[in-house]
Amino acid sequence: MANRTIIITGGAGFIGSHVVRLFVNKYPDYRIINVDKLTYAGNLENLKDIENRPNYRFVKADICDFDAMLALIKDEKVDGIIHLAAESHVDRSIKDPFTFARTNVLGTLSLLQAARTCWEESGWEGKRFYHISTDEVYGALQFDGKLFREETKYDPHSPYSASKASSDHFVRAFHDTYGMPTIVTNCSNNYGPYQFPEKLIPLFINNIRYRKPLPVYGKGENVRDWLYVEDHARAIDLIFHKGKIAETYNIGGFNEWKNIDLIKVLIKTVDKVLGRPEGADDDLITFVQDRAGHDLRYAIDSSKLKSELGWEPSLQFEEGIEKTVRWYLDNQEWLDNVTSGDYQNYYKSMYKL
Ligand code: NAD
Ligand code: TYD
Repeated sequence: MANRTIIITGGAGFIGSHVVRLFVNKYPDYRIINVDKLTYAGNLENLKDIENRPNYRFVKADICDFDAMLALIKDEKVDGIIHLAAESHVDRSIKDPFTFARTNVLGTLSLLQAARTCWEESGWEGKRFYHISTDEVYGALQFDGKLFREETKYDPHSPYSASKASSDHFVRAFHDTYGMPTIVTNCSNNYGPYQFPEKLIPLFINNIRYRKPLPVYGKGENVRDWLYVEDHARAIDLIFHKGKIAETYNIGGFNEWKNIDLIKVLIKTVDKVLGRPEGADDDLITFVQDRAGHDLRYAIDSSKLKSELGWEPSLQFEEGIEKTVRWYLDNQEWLDNVTSGDYQNYYKSMYKL
């Protein structure tokens, strides 16, 4: 369908910026509206390369602001919403669960209700509400080879995953109750450029560079399933256009890593790129107190997405990690701006405020 108008929420964040870039470049006939509150995690510098494109518009707004969402969807005749805006860091959710309930649960509800109000009036035909979620809603796996499937029962443990689970349920409830055309996807851990350096991979790359300790929670035995962020963005594009209404799709790369093994790969790669001798930074590994309620293992079965829509990850992990390490080492200014808070001035200078 040509000439669509799509809101992408959270487009100034890590995954959202890759999705915005992909859609702006690939669909010149679409109008892409990036709705983002610009919290600590939102950074318009992530989108410098596309910010002046005629098919792109940025709107600084809070998804919890129902009136603002309603007006935007109505005035712009929005027919698609790809919803990524969220509070996304588990450690922050442990310290401040309210913010997570507000944005992830009430914000999603406000967006759903605004879309419903507009779309019930204009008709559901051609409309789509696509909610981006996480595999963390399924809870924790043991070391038994089992994988999360689309039918796996929800069993969230952290305030973050509980808030995402709740938002997933609201999205499905809007389909079942009002007939809203919705889709939910649950993806594994993403890595790649533009990730806020509080998450494991960018934090550790930066620490290795400056020879700072690497705080490994517990014994480093927890397992995560890692996917390169551009592969996630490609999956989102495919599912937005070809996915079946009311379906759930799991997205993952069949790429499980024990934290400690992943950290060793990171050290090796950073040292190689910086020309340091092998093993030079192994002593940075520092075991610290475990995260409260730390889920042991996540692993996604994404075979439904492969068999139904033909999606597969494009990058091997070692290749993706080297690409990522090089990006962070080459973009020290981005990292410095983010870690010092200077990135928040970009919006003001761009909009001359
Ligand atoms: P992020 O923290 O990097 O970005 C979140 C973005 O949302 C930021 O730009 C922030 O400013 C914006 N935002 C936060 N609260 C807002 C509000 N109230 N109104 C408007 N905008 C607001 O997050 P991310 O890692 O890019 O994750 C994006 C989405 O993907 C989230 O929904 C997350 O749950 C989901 N997800 C993430 C991963 C991962 O590994 N990062 C994996 C699976 C799913
Ligand atoms: P993180 O990147 O926060 O993602 P998530 O908690 O959503 O999976 O953490 C990835 C894994 O790395 C997780 O098992 C926690 C662990 N971790 C550490 O050991 N040390 C750290 O400093 C961080 C941020 C994470």
